[in-house]
Amino acid sequence: MTEELEEYILQHIDAEPEHLARLDRDTHVRLLYPRMCSGHLQGRLLKMLVRMINPRQVLELGTYSGYATQCLAEGLLRPDAHVDTIEIDDELEDFIREHLAQSPVASRISLHLGDAVQILEQLQCQYDLIYIDANKRDYLAYYDLALAHLMPGGYILADNTLWDGKVTDPAAHDAQTQGIRAFNDRVAADPRVEKVILPLRDGLTVIRKVSPSP
Ligand SMILES: C[S@@+](CC[C@H](N)C(=O)[O-])C[C@H]1O[C@@H](n2cnc3c(N)ncnc32)[C@H](O)[C@@H]1O
Repeated sequence: MTEELEEYILQHIDAEPEHLARLDRDTHVRLLYPRMCSGHLQGRLLKMLVRMINPRQVLELGTYSGYATQCLAEGLLRPDAHVDTIEIDDELEDFIREHLAQSPVASRISLHLGDAVQILEQLQCQYDLIYIDANKRDYLAYYDLALAHLMPGGYILADNTLWDGKVTDPAAHDAQTQGIRAFNDRVAADPRVEKVILPLRDGLTVIRKVSPSP
């Protein structure tokens, strides 16, 4: 994607809400690895997908600055709908909460600090939508757990599944690339789900858990 095309897209989609633009700027000024923040285009897509799926319970693995969390919550339509989000880095807590305090959807979000696998094992909830965006080495473990916590007909969105193109680079053997490849291979071969990979940013896989036949 050229910078011109990206700019063109951003000028022809919904504007980024002011509080999210502030969060994005602050992420770039105050946090390490700001590229992890979803940003304007992916954030608007996440909101739109939530609108389309109309979930009651949403789970995010990997909060970082809370940008995608707020976009997921923004898309909720049901009055009782809610987002759980899990972040392992407790040094991010103050930053996340500071920006949640400025968010119109803060009351719909619960932040859980700790390891996604451990916390997900404790959460007794079944989700309609799960956004996987934490440690790339552990995507397979997240997938197995996410499927177990997903309602029939529910959706998983998995971010970074093209991993900067490294998935097809024979010279790339690092643990994160291998984690993403293992995840992609498992999903591709899994008859329990329907799946499609969108080449948006770093690759976004949309997975639907097949409902049992009536
Ligand atoms: C790519 S960032 C998330 C970006 C965010 N979802 C967004 O779109 O704006 C990945 C985050 O996952 C967190 N993380 C890594 N391993 C984790 C784990 N085992 N459990 C929970 N969070 C984890 C990292 O600390 C980091 O903040």
